[in-house]
Amino acid sequence: AATALWGGRFAGGPAEALAALSKSTHFDWRLALHDLAGSRAHARVLHGAGLLDDAALAAMLDALDRLRADVESGAFGPEEADEDVHTALERGLIERAGAEVGGRLRAGRSRNDQVATLFRMYLREHARVVAGLVLDVVDALVEQSTRHLGVAMPGRTHLQHAQPVLLSHHLLAHAWALLRDVDRLRDWDARAAVSPYGSGALAGSSLGLDPEAVAADLGFETSVENSIDGTAARDVVAEFAFVAAMTAVDVSRLAEEVVLWATKEFSFVTLDDAYSTGSSIMPQKKNPDVAELARGKAGRLVGDLAGLLTTLKSLPLAYNRDLQEDKEPVFDAVDTLELLLPAFSGMVATMVFDTARLESLAPQGFSLATDVAEWLVREGVAFRVAHEVAGACVRACEERGIELWDLTDDDLAAISPHLTPGVRGVLSVEGSLASRSAKGGTAPVRVGEQLERVVATAAEH
Ligand code: ARG
Repeated sequence: AATALWGGRFAGGPAEALAALSKSTHFDWRLALHDLAGSRAHARVLHGAGLLDDAALAAMLDALDRLRADVESGAFGPEEADEDVHTALERGLIERAGAEVGGRLRAGRSRNDQVATLFRMYLREHARVVAGLVLDVVDALVEQSTRHLGVAMPGRTHLQHAQPVLLSHHLLAHAWALLRDVDRLRDWDARAAVSPYGSGALAGSSLGLDPEAVAADLGFETSVENSIDGTAARDVVAEFAFVAAMTAVDVSRLAEEVVLWATKEFSFVTLDDAYSTGSSIMPQKKNPDVAELARGKAGRLVGDLAGLLTTLKSLPLAYNRDLQEDKEPVFDAVDTLELLLPAFSGMVATMVFDTARLESLAPQGFSLATDVAEWLVREGVAFRVAHEVAGACVRACEERGIELWDLTDDDLAAISPHLTPGVRGVLSVEGSLASRSAKGGTAPVRVGEQLERVVATAAEH
């Protein structure tokens, strides 16, 4: 092959089937601009080491700039015979700078340290984009929480009515999880900000090149301490894939709730027409496809992570060609989140809650039974007994098809002498909510403070 980077020791070219198998330009071309940035930095350290004179450096940088313009405009792209993005760009450089100058750039670097570096550059950029999109979902949750401060809803465990909570408290629970995902992206960046450039194929560079200079040039904090680690490690990539998958999983948990909430049976929310789809046969249908796709795509991101970890498992040091398989799953994770999150934040921002329904359902299903038990504890009754007494109230109500507040004073006294009429004070949603006023609780005063902290935390990112 005319443009291969490794023809010298071979009598013939590669079999067509091998070339087809080996090729990666259809997915690694997206690293082209990072590769060119790496090449400019590399040209400067070659010059610094005395391996390029001033004229050659100027010619090289000029050719790289023209190549970048052609890549950006689409005038230059990979050709059939190009094995990967690095091969294609070397061809483009030689076409522009000539073989004498262009052929000097490859000294002291390998595609192994190149690709490890470019991948980190790409992921660091997209981590910032993804973090911004996750924060848009947080913003949508904050808006809804602000709009509905004070609205009660049924809080659930096991999907059964458990205790009343504020709708805002519930929505902010999702916001905190997403803020931790943004936090994870930020923590991750500290480990990703280390450049493998200068590691060469695996053993480091012998040409007096300065890896720290390249690192600084490319926006990294520093360069790797170990060239084998630099070329063979992909834990940084896997960690990114984990954070991406965790983010999608967190989004999917809210998505599943939205799917439920939009059913006839729940009727908690109406989705905006702009974020709903219809059915090709059933004229009445309004489907929560954004939420369903969020739920489905989470599985896809988990698969991306699992696939990458499986590629890495048991892989000996240093570089192995298996590592070429590291890119597609993570590119897929990035693409999927960048596609999903804008639709998801739009859906969350525009969904309309049926607050009257939420409020009326909040105390149903005996969700105030815990309040009865805790009232008894405040009256000096042991919790074991209090739990039994409140349970007996529920049983009595269930037998008669009534709610706790329908029990008369006589009914209460018959269940337990401890149940004086004073217990009625906690048999209201307002009383129940207000009583959960310790830090982290659903009392309106605490949720108001919490909302401010969510806003402040989001603003820090
Ligand atoms: N395309 C490869 C990758 O993504 C980089 C090329 C390394 N090839 C090689 N023969 N060392 O990992």
